[in-house]
Amino acid sequence: MSRYEEIKQQLLHSPKVWLITGVAGFIGSNLLETLLKLNQKVVGLDNFATGHQRNLDEVQGLVAPQQWQKFRFIEGDIREYSTCVKAVKGIDYVLHQAALGSVPRSIADPITSNAANITGFLNMLQAAKEEGVASFTYAASSSTYGDHPALPKVEENIGNPLSPYAVTKYVNELYAGVYARTYGFKTIGLRYFNVFGKRQDPNGAYAAVIPKWTAAMIQGNDVFINGDGETSRDFCYIENTIQMNILAASASDEAKDQVYNVAVGDRTTLNDLYAAIKTALASNGVQVDAEPVYHDFRAGDVRHSQADISKAMSCLGYLPQYRISQGIEQAMPWYKTFLG
Ligand SMILES: NC(=O)c1ccc[n+]([C@@H]2O[C@H](COP(=O)([O-])OP(=O)(O)OC[C@H]3O[C@@H](n4cnc5c(N)ncnc54)[C@H](O)[C@@H]3O)[C@@H](O)[C@H]2O)c1
Repeated sequence: MSRYEEIKQQLLHSPKVWLITGVAGFIGSNLLETLLKLNQKVVGLDNFATGHQRNLDEVQGLVAPQQWQKFRFIEGDIREYSTCVKAVKGIDYVLHQAALGSVPRSIADPITSNAANITGFLNMLQAAKEEGVASFTYAASSSTYGDHPALPKVEENIGNPLSPYAVTKYVNELYAGVYARTYGFKTIGLRYFNVFGKRQDPNGAYAAVIPKWTAAMIQGNDVFINGDGETSRDFCYIENTIQMNILAASASDEAKDQVYNVAVGDRTTLNDLYAAIKTALASNGVQVDAEPVYHDFRAGDVRHSQADISKAMSCLGYLPQYRISQGIEQAMPWYKTFLG
């Protein structure tokens, strides 16, 4: 049995109390769905900055009524320390996801990203330490690799950040290290690499590439590629990300005070991604004939990204179960229903 299966069995037998910040967002609402299906008690915190009530409603429809009763929602802002203190009361495991994502958003408005991603993070870290929670796992980012040219990305080799967003996520890691050294409060940072899956917002200027393109292709609109299409990413299906959060939350003390890459270890160019979505849509009855439209490169974007996931595999027992095409295939019925 894999470590992940083992931990899920343990959780079913002895449930924990979890706090998910950013619970109304893409990753947060998917974590919520999985934890409720494992009969866990969950407190969720969100201010709906980029998350949606519809994500919570969708989860409610996917779990049993008695599982939904184990969920308590706090509408609140992590920029307020008192809200964080209230949210962590009685919590065993914190999964801190709340932040303002998107490189271009942070370039347009660095001050707001800084407040949510750095002040908000520090508030949550301090409140969780004071409460004495058993574990604190937080969403870090592959953007921390910045301009470091080496591929695949190994946790200890980072370059200069290329955006205010990348600075905020790196500062999270610095604070996490300081909390371990100064207070003995050890956390785990998960450097997510381009996560995708159901409930990822396709709308707005800062939408992620997969839902944005899929929506455009379903609706017959143009798909714009920034640059020549040879920019590459290690796209990671949401189920792999959920696995890593659950593994991290229940990690041993020796595996803490660390950051881990969360990805698959594959590298897919934007041109290949376009072709993969087109193929998946075709097998779901949506024919796309248009070619993508090429634009200028986007400021702050890293050119290539691919993770070395061996640290997560050896220290946490991570075994990604979905490669990009399997993830796109699994997510496609949701895209068709909700983006059509
Ligand atoms: N999706 C990715 O590919 C990816 C990659 C790297 C890192 N991350 C990180 O993962 C986390 C989750 O990202 P996501 O893709 O689910 O984004 P998302 O925007 O869907 O979710 C973020 C959630 O945080 C909430 N939030 C923002 N500011 C808040 C505040 N001040 N107080 C309370 N709630 C607040 C939003 O309302 C939203 O529901 C973020 O920390 C993000 O930086 C995501």
